[in-house]
Amino acid sequence: MMFNELRSGCGMGGEREGKPERAELRSQIDVGSPVPPESPSMSGDGKTLPLKVAEGQNGDSLLERISTGIEGLDVMLKGGLIKGRAYLIKGGPGSGKTILSMQILLEGAKRGEKVAYVTLMEPEDKLRENMSALGFDLSKVNIIDLSPTSDHPILMSVIEPEKGIDLNTFRSVLENILVEHVDIIAIDPITMFKAMMPETQYRAGILRLIRLFRRKLNSKSATVILISSSSELVDIEDYLVDGVIELRTVEVGGRIVRAIKIVKMRGSDFDEVLRPYRITDRGIEVYPDLSVSEV
Ligand SMILES: Nc1ncnc2c1ncn2[C@@H]1O[C@H](COP(=O)(O)OP(=O)(O)OP(=O)(O)O)[C@@H](O)[C@H]1O
Ligand SMILES: [Mg+2]
Repeated sequence: MMFNELRSGCGMGGEREGKPERAELRSQIDVGSPVPPESPSMSGDGKTLPLKVAEGQNGDSLLERISTGIEGLDVMLKGGLIKGRAYLIKGGPGSGKTILSMQILLEGAKRGEKVAYVTLMEPEDKLRENMSALGFDLSKVNIIDLSPTSDHPILMSVIEPEKGIDLNTFRSVLENILVEHVDIIAIDPITMFKAMMPETQYRAGILRLIRLFRRKLNSKSATVILISSSSELVDIEDYLVDGVIELRTVEVGGRIVRAIKIVKMRGSDFDEVLRPYRITDRGIEVYPDLSVSEV
């Protein structure tokens, strides 16, 4: 079976033709299955999705949606992320958090938006290497390397070796670097700061950070993507953001299957079902018309 057949039913609102057998799907979606060479691009057409009306707190707001660059995820989100909001992408090691956030940024760059990626763990050269293996062109992504191996002069000057940097310092570092407007910013992983400070301080720090992108740097709010390397079901960060997307693995009949779940999405309806996803040689693909137990 060609992989295209599997994806034919996964487009936004697309009719499902040539529906593959369940057994075939199972072999395609298992974590360990080989990547078919003909996997199509996961990116959308780079345009902002049609404006969708969703009721805000006052019941009257118009919420502009932006595509994540992953068709199946846009379907689950009922039209994409709400622009200018803060999101958390959480999942265990190797679950695809960096790839997913990069796909969101690349889709923004395609629309002509200014996008930035702050890496706190993975050094820039490794990140570029891994992303270029997926065919991602990062030339339009402003990569800010604040990883421990970076020698960023601002960062080095404020690091206290025994404490690392706190969120307030990090915020002023970002404020200094990102002097110009940014439409989408990803911070990977925000949980880097967690072990360094008491919970109340961490919580306040994250809220201040989100507020910085809401007001300080922009006339328009930036969409903020925070990455959490926690695989706990509920963490403090979950309460502080507008939306949470979780990447998990689940056991189905003795097999391990990758599964994506939208935990919350303020101001919008969303698909609450755990859906299977794959990491292919083109990035993440989500299957919004399949449930994990069905494959
Ligand atoms: N071409 C590919 N085909 C299949 N899977 C791939 C491919 N390239 C990468 N992967 C998967 O993607 C994972 C890495 O993705 P990514 O770096 O986004 O994960 P992460 O959640 O950010 O990990 P970490 O917690 O270590 O930062 C690898 O563990 C691998 O399983
Ligand atoms: Mg990562």
